[in-house]
Amino acid sequence: MAILVGGLGCSHVPSIGAALDKGLMQTPDWKPFFDGIGPGRDWVAAQRPDIAVAIFNDHGNAFFLDRVPTFAVGCADRYEIADEGWGPRPLPAFDGDAAFGWHLADTLVANSFDPTVLQEVEVDHGLQVPMELFWGRPAARWPVRVVPIFVNVIQQPTPLPSRCYAFGAALRQAIDSFPGDARIVVLGTGGLSHQLQGARAGFVNPAADRAFLADIARDPEKLASMSREDYVRVFGSEGAELIMWLVMRGALDRAVRVCHSHYFVPASMTGVGMLVLENAAKAI
Ligand code: DHB
Ligand code: FE
Repeated sequence: MAILVGGLGCSHVPSIGAALDKGLMQTPDWKPFFDGIGPGRDWVAAQRPDIAVAIFNDHGNAFFLDRVPTFAVGCADRYEIADEGWGPRPLPAFDGDAAFGWHLADTLVANSFDPTVLQEVEVDHGLQVPMELFWGRPAARWPVRVVPIFVNVIQQPTPLPSRCYAFGAALRQAIDSFPGDARIVVLGTGGLSHQLQGARAGFVNPAADRAFLADIARDPEKLASMSREDYVRVFGSEGAELIMWLVMRGALDRAVRVCHSHYFVPASMTGVGMLVLENAAKAI
């Protein structure tokens, strides 16, 4: 059966991608953020996952407001880089794993989740930026296959945080029952606190962000029992992206070990974080 090697959390702010494209990582604005990503990258290099199941939200690039799935699962063998307005960024397309995607879709339906199945979809910064932070930019091919899971946070009604956490448990069942010996890592992207529009545009909440990074490891039920309104109030309207991390956390055991945690504020208008978790029971 497949092996769950761990869970990753990471912000996906587009300007991080621009900083990578322009080589700004050592400039005073960016150095404090990029200085903290090395241990995450080292962990991934040591674990050599075959498949990254990446939970993120599209930002109007794959789906527009006329049709927004609540949960959608990628069942394709290739995902092209979305053009977000300046042309696609210079990254290779992602190889997918359609076999795991279909197995996940089956397992979700058996657990009373009914995802949209995607056989062709482009992926935006929500996936691109965290993948490059953890895996680096490959010259030709990514060294890992990606299975994207899209969760709606751009149009009401968005799913409940508790539902996202339960979705993670069904994802775990799919991993545990997937034939073969693939090494699978689960990646949740988005957040941390930010609000890009409205009266509170520019709002960040560093104290709440730091608490989130601690609580997602030791008390995920607390975060799963918050309401959607709580997320908007505490983390900002776009900080509600943090429900992506609950899917990742729900796929792990109750007891986890924190292998790496990094926080910096602000990148663009956002508190940015990186987290690496392993099941506490995992053999080291
Ligand atoms: C920013 C953050 C995001 O999560 C996003 O999707 C777009 C922009 C920002 O801080 O600029
Ligand atoms: Fe976002």
